[in-house]
Amino acid sequence: MSQPAPPSLAVLISGRGSNLQAFIDACDAGQLPARITLVISNNPAAAGLQRAERAGIATLSIDHRDYPSREAFDQALVDALHSSDIDLVILAGFMRILTPVLIKPYLGRLLNIHPSLLPKYPGLKTHQRALDAGDTEAGATVHFVTQELDGGPPVLQVRVPIERGDTADSLAARVAVQEHAIYPLAARWLAEGRLALHDGGATLDGQPLPATGIDYTGGMSD
Ligand code: GAR
Repeated sequence: MSQPAPPSLAVLISGRGSNLQAFIDACDAGQLPARITLVISNNPAAAGLQRAERAGIATLSIDHRDYPSREAFDQALVDALHSSDIDLVILAGFMRILTPVLIKPYLGRLLNIHPSLLPKYPGLKTHQRALDAGDTEAGATVHFVTQELDGGPPVLQVRVPIERGDTADSLAARVAVQEHAIYPLAARWLAEGRLALHDGGATLDGQPLPATGIDYTGGMSD
């Protein structure tokens, strides 16, 4: 019997693309049963586009400044995703606020990673805000994207201790290492059909996930 085709992924980026690279590496290593079919950037100068090209993945620059509204920009994204038959959409440092034009058709098939321990610090400058607040730990959260900015149901969360002398940059670098572990794993679960958005909450193998997602700190126990 023939195996079903692996789901087709689009990764949306705005910058460096280190999470995109983690996805490329996970696919190459057989750890993510999916094909990265398309990488889209709203920023034509995003360094991540070159990572995609090196890996032989089709790229597209859709510059938000060419569109009169967020909705018109999102419609251009949806058109591109539809014409490439994309199953799952991965936001990897995609620094645009999305509208229902994109969120609705991909609800439950759209993941984001945010560099904080959500629900703490939605929005920007998360690491600086954690430092300014005197927090002892920072981290990252993979979550389903819903209409609420950085507020969709969390899937996986990893905590990273804040060290004496940390700057936003040094902290971001340590958190990024962990992002590269949790994000392909969450995508794997989605690609395998184990992870779902159900009645407004995230489920894994049919079981509801904790409010802040599965705690990956220190790795997975099973
Ligand atoms: C990552 O740290 C990601 O968590 C963050 O942007 C960075 C992108 O890095 N995303 C957000 O802040 C989304 N609000 P990368 O381009 O090297 O993957």
